[in-house]
Amino acid sequence: MISLREVLMRAEADKVAVGHFNFSDLVSFNAIVAAARDRKLPVMVGVSEGEREFTGVAQAAALVKAVRDEFGYPVFLNADHTHSIAHAETAARAGFDEIIFDGSALSFDENIKQTKKAIEAIKSINPSILVEGEIGWIGASSAVIDKVPEGVGILTTPDEAKQFVEATKVDVLAPAVGNMHGMLASMVHGNVQKRLNIERIAEIKAAAKIFMTLHGGSGTNDDDFKRAIKAGMTIVHVNTEIRIAWRRGVEAGLAADPNEVAPYKILKPAVEAVRKVVSERLELFSSK
Ligand code: G3H
Ligand code: ZN
Repeated sequence: MISLREVLMRAEADKVAVGHFNFSDLVSFNAIVAAARDRKLPVMVGVSEGEREFTGVAQAAALVKAVRDEFGYPVFLNADHTHSIAHAETAARAGFDEIIFDGSALSFDENIKQTKKAIEAIKSINPSILVEGEIGWIGASSAVIDKVPEGVGILTTPDEAKQFVEATKVDVLAPAVGNMHGMLASMVHGNVQKRLNIERIAEIKAAAKIFMTLHGGSGTNDDDFKRAIKAGMTIVHVNTEIRIAWRRGVEAGLAADPNEVAPYKILKPAVEAVRKVVSERLELFSSK
């Protein structure tokens, strides 16, 4: 089985990005895998601390292993936004391919200190796990929100990126480049879109010289996505769009027949709705 590092190296060379989608149930997980298999593209699936508290850490790892074993399919598991070293170690022992140690809420120096400790702990369990570090504040949750959270919008500088990467030796960097976690209601119901600073992405990539992840993908302008990928983003995270599709699909499934009680029948429209979102995003991220 090809490794995540190799998949990222190929994507970087081709100037395309690998899609990363979060899940917390079998509806989303199966929909993400189905969309990726349709398009014959490698895919990353992620569980945040909250999501994996719900799925179970070992259970999330077992799902991914099952898909790899059954189809030989390149699906990779990420421990998204991990805030404690203990949680990072649990994910490392469970066989995750990537762990994001998220110290972005800490001061810059404390973030470096904690990220270094996390890398040491993770790599001593399994040196091939990729560790991602985060700098800059882009908000905390994949939710529909009323206003831009305080502090969001300040961009990571190339100097900060270089200093952080050199000091921590992370494999992957997640900077703040105009992106934000979650979607404003005006992005869900209106035509407001997130816009990215492409020039800054290129400058950070030149300074950091490692793989980079664009977080907060939901609601981003399509053209900005493409240009951000060409400028150096190799992983793109999408979650809120999936959660919205999931909810609308569940509502449609429940409304279709008030007497239906079989979950696998009620949840079918949710699988289809999530699959559509993932499929469209994958098409965009992989277009050369
Ligand atoms: O780690 C998860 C993502 O960065 C998702 O952000 O909910 O804005 O798509 P999003
Ligand atoms: Zn994120």
